[in-house]
Amino acid sequence: MKAMKKRMKNAAPEKFNPHPYSFLITGEHDTVVKKTIAAILRRLSRTNVLRPLAKRGLEAALAAISYGLSSKGHALVFYALPNNPETKKIMELIRNAKERHQILLHDYEAYQVFMTVKKTLKVEGDIAEVGVFRGGSAKIICEAKGHRRLHLFDTFEGIPHVSEIDRVYKGQLAASPEDVKNALREYGNVHVYKGVFPETAGPIVDKKFSFVHLDVDAYESTRNCLKFFYSRMTVGGTIISHNYGDIIGVRKAFDEFFADKLESVVELACTQCLVVKVSSLEQPTAAGASKEAIEKEWLPG
Ligand SMILES: C[S@@+](CC[C@H](N)C(=O)[O-])C[C@H]1O[C@@H](n2cnc3c(N)ncnc32)[C@H](O)[C@@H]1O
Repeated sequence: MKAMKKRMKNAAPEKFNPHPYSFLITGEHDTVVKKTIAAILRRLSRTNVLRPLAKRGLEAALAAISYGLSSKGHALVFYALPNNPETKKIMELIRNAKERHQILLHDYEAYQVFMTVKKTLKVEGDIAEVGVFRGGSAKIICEAKGHRRLHLFDTFEGIPHVSEIDRVYKGQLAASPEDVKNALREYGNVHVYKGVFPETAGPIVDKKFSFVHLDVDAYESTRNCLKFFYSRMTVGGTIISHNYGDIIGVRKAFDEFFADKLESVVELACTQCLVVKVSSLEQPTAAGASKEAIEKEWLPG
């Protein structure tokens, strides 16, 4: 115990903010959730401190854990997805994708991305993702997109800009574009662009979008993506961003950008947020108004 305390004291400071959610349990059916909880309780009952709590039974133990977490500013979140063959198939897909690629999304977040891509196929436009890393979330998008054109943007050299409020470091999360192309070679109409977005946005300045997935982990990148994509979203088109709930820079960029817009930033359980474009009226943004403005502000030379 003493050794453990010493180790904890000497541990390196955390790079990220503490996560506001302590557990996320996803399952296709109530029984999956119950089995998971039972497994947690079995583990708890092996520790001296928590054995009495676990012995009081499932409901009582969960209530106590939940109360304890909430008094420390945490929340216990459970997710039970619909019990139908389609959901089972999607969860299987997500599990396979997780085994083969490193996906930095929770299962439920991957499910949310998959379903939103599917549901927005009725809206005209291409699909884009900024923040591809090893292609895990892109794989999920590919599985849902059918023949839709998908544009994937990443520096592949990690996070490009870091501001004071960001908890990531410059160059974090580098990956290889070749690995991503290879991982997605079975899907048609997929385009991979290497470099700092939106300097790499030249090929898509005239496109409209039905779905955009942002997963860039930092304030400036998120803000620049919103500036670029907002005016290019088709009405009914949807933007999902990872980490709105747990990365302060992502949250700030969304809240600032949409403060004077019609659209609401809808916070989802887990860490994502979702925005549905509701009006095609051009609204003044620093770079979103026209191709000329984008080229002037963002493209080199
Ligand atoms: C968390 S990872 C993406 C994870 C991926 N979506 C997944 O679920 O597997 C964040 C990525 O954003 C990229 N990134 C951040 N800002 C960027 C920018 N302005 N342009 C291009 N890539 C950027 C980083 O290089 C990094 O690979």
